[in-house]
Amino acid sequence: MKKVAIIGGGNLGASIAQGLAKSGWTTAENIIVTRRHLDRLAGLSAQGFRVGDDNLLAVRESQWIVLAVKPWQVLEVIRELVPVLVPGEHRLISVVTGITIAQMREACGPGVPLFRAMPNTAIAIQESMTCVAADKASGADRDLVLSLFQELGEAILIDEALMDAATVLGACGIAYALRYIRASSQGGIQIGFDSDTAQLIASQTVKGAAALLMANGQHPEHEIDKVTTPKGCTIAGLNEMEHEGFSSSLIKGILTSFKQI
Ligand SMILES: NC(=O)c1ccc[n+]([C@@H]2O[C@H](COP(=O)([O-])OP(=O)(O)OC[C@H]3O[C@@H](n4cnc5c(N)ncnc54)[C@H](OP(=O)(O)O)[C@@H]3O)[C@@H](O)[C@H]2O)c1
Repeated sequence: MKKVAIIGGGNLGASIAQGLAKSGWTTAENIIVTRRHLDRLAGLSAQGFRVGDDNLLAVRESQWIVLAVKPWQVLEVIRELVPVLVPGEHRLISVVTGITIAQMREACGPGVPLFRAMPNTAIAIQESMTCVAADKASGADRDLVLSLFQELGEAILIDEALMDAATVLGACGIAYALRYIRASSQGGIQIGFDSDTAQLIASQTVKGAAALLMANGQHPEHEIDKVTTPKGCTIAGLNEMEHEGFSSSLIKGILTSFKQI
């Protein structure tokens, strides 16, 4: 079974651990999660994961090393790991925003294949969208790392230059989509549903819309045309949303997030 060390068992690190165990790609007993506040890993420990506060021990016992600490912590963590990193045995995968492969390479030295991955929090339920960028010399390991994230939802290889864009569209994108669902629910309450029912209808409708596009590969407008009867209520509502800046505000928000990285 594949052995994984997740260095940084916070929100994302814990989600990755849970997603990997659920996928069957490896088991909870083969995943070791570390953080400095060991007591905060009690929940993962109760679920059967190995937990610890010794990063070197975790790396020695694993082949796949996932770095899920904060951006300002990651280079120091890599320097700490250098003495136990073995080329040909370890692969280092950072999910950290904004730290480049070149910066990681400088901290880690030659030999060990380096990857960046940008998942989102749906990774906990194997529904992440993950963009992966690989070190030039990564070779066959690139497919292995991609296959790891394909166990956790959709995963694609991208040029590292697009990593910030991937962060906004995929990782921040979860929040944009959730805000859409919240706003829809609020509208639903105003037209008669209790909040739980409104949220269920809004959530399943978004899930269905996304599934339609992914099943048939059509452009969204093609599916929209099917539900906009001439002079009907859907087109009236949609046009009102556009008059109020619906698409424009979303695009502006994406650009603002991008500038903020
Ligand atoms: N959340 C997202 O949706 C998302 C999406 C894509 C990428 N990311 C990236 O993922 C990274 C983690 O984000 P997060 O939201 O999961 O942050 P978080 O909840 O703060 O998790 C970071 C974890 O790192 C641990 N840590 C810090 N220093 C450590 C060390 N020396 N050794 C071991 N563990 C250490 C912290 O625990 P202790 O303080 O107890 O050590 C904490 O649990 C960030 O770099 C972020 O850019 C996040």
